[in-house]
Amino acid sequence: GTEVVRTVAQLRQRRESWNQPVAVVMTMGALHEGHLELVRVARTLAPRVIVTIFVNPLQFGAGEDLDAYPRTLDADVEVLRQEGVDLVFAPPESEMYPDGAPQVTMTAGHMGEVLEGADRPGHFDGMLTVVGKLLHLTRADIAMFGQKDAQQLALVRRMVSDQNIPVRIEAVPIVREPDGLAMSSRNAYLDEAERAAALVLSRAVAAGAQAAADGSTVDDVLAAAQRILDERDRDLVRPSYLELVDEHTMTAWGERHPDGRSPSRALLVVAARVGATRLIDNAVVSWP
Ligand code: PAJ
Repeated sequence: GTEVVRTVAQLRQRRESWNQPVAVVMTMGALHEGHLELVRVARTLAPRVIVTIFVNPLQFGAGEDLDAYPRTLDADVEVLRQEGVDLVFAPPESEMYPDGAPQVTMTAGHMGEVLEGADRPGHFDGMLTVVGKLLHLTRADIAMFGQKDAQQLALVRRMVSDQNIPVRIEAVPIVREPDGLAMSSRNAYLDEAERAAALVLSRAVAAGAQAAADGSTVDDVLAAAQRILDERDRDLVRPSYLELVDEHTMTAWGERHPDGRSPSRALLVVAARVGATRLIDNAVVSWP
């Protein structure tokens, strides 16, 4: 059965009793099919699966949605039982940060200051700090991350490499609603009009990916995505960025290749505020 533990001591005790490989799925709860896909892939990769549920205050900025963030622990545990998860770690803040804000933390560096990091100062430092702690606490052999949060994935990979953390990072493709909207716990904030308007994000990156598949230049890929974004409902959707970046470094492709040559593979990333809700999406684009 699925056991739910709330303390570091209980987590360590359960973990010590297992000699088999462990995969961890880290989440902030309010679970949807995107999270469950990570759990399902984890189950195929390791005999033991731990899911962590913790709304990490360190990665929320002033004025962000920490207090409003959906918390649905009972329902989350119920679906994780159905998925056959071995252990759920759902600590209160006092277990993760017993002395209040930690003194010694991770720093994402330049990669944490671009794109999402430009709009959310400190977000990636706080994210890496909690991911590092959860990797140590779970001693996971494999950790699952969604391609949906591409910059987060790239930064976690970089931390694991820079810090020699003995874990394998597994990326899972974006899970979408039938109409294309990338699943997100924050979609719950959208009203009907916003939900409809939000579709321009997935449509824009899909148009860019199609243009690349058709052999377009980097500039034309960006233009194809921008054309869709230009059709947005301007009262509801305020774009933050639309860029073609290297998936490992998150640097704009144009900055590294001023000659405009096409890469073989890149990431088309987009972010916008839809009403009051910040949404992100991306697509892997590859050239024939
Ligand atoms: P959260 O937003 O809850 O996401 C947990 C994991 O689910 C992340 O790896 C995220 O990329 C993945 N995920 C979310 N929506 C997805 C979708 N539509 N398709 C595929 N994967 C999806 O990301 C966080 O929490 C936090 O930053 C965390 C890593 C837990 C650290 O606090």
